[in-house]
Amino acid sequence: MKFFVDSADLNAIAELADIGLVDGVTTNPSIIAKSGRDFKEVVKDICKLTEGHVSAEVVAMNADQMVEEGRILRKIADNVCVKLPLTMDGLKACNVLSREGTPTNVTLCFSANQALLAAKCGATYISPFIGRLDDLSLDGMELIEDIHTIYDNYGFETEILAASIRNANHVKECALVGADVMTAPPNVIKALSNHALTDKGLAAFMKDWEKTGQSI
Ligand code: G3P
Repeated sequence: MKFFVDSADLNAIAELADIGLVDGVTTNPSIIAKSGRDFKEVVKDICKLTEGHVSAEVVAMNADQMVEEGRILRKIADNVCVKLPLTMDGLKACNVLSREGTPTNVTLCFSANQALLAAKCGATYISPFIGRLDDLSLDGMELIEDIHTIYDNYGFETEILAASIRNANHVKECALVGADVMTAPPNVIKALSNHALTDKGLAAFMKDWEKTGQSI
């Protein structure tokens, strides 16, 4: 499963990239607003931190303007992936940009039928939002499973990019279901290494090693 970082925090992305845990990055207008930086400049800087796709989202609402914005974003760097909302205009723009060879990420997906439309429109990635469904006491993981079944049934090449991931269980469940990609905030990715028994065991090893008086 590919790990994408859902952030525009350059330091956090670089820290994870140094460990080998960054296969790409996703942003959205809220993440860009939080960065406080110029959109195209921060995307350009992010693209230097990974060879993988970096999702940059259009903000237009109609297809023609989405396509124009997508073409502008695509020129920022070779690894820019254009993010489009799951609306009929977003799907039309996805179809046009995908046919031009532009990587596309159709986002704000909350149903299997929406994911089916994105695949038929040539999306490179589909971004189902797990956490926001869970927030409504719906089953975000069930959506990932349904999309995986539908895509397998028809051999769609669109990659499932599980998004709105809030905790380590979401990551594990996505890996068990077979999501192609998961995108999560840096703190969620870092927390994946945490386990009390690991800390306890390491402390015991170090205590016993100190008794040997040796060094390597
Ligand atoms: O990539 C989508 C993600 O940023 C949304 O996460 O936690 O706002 O639902 P969240």
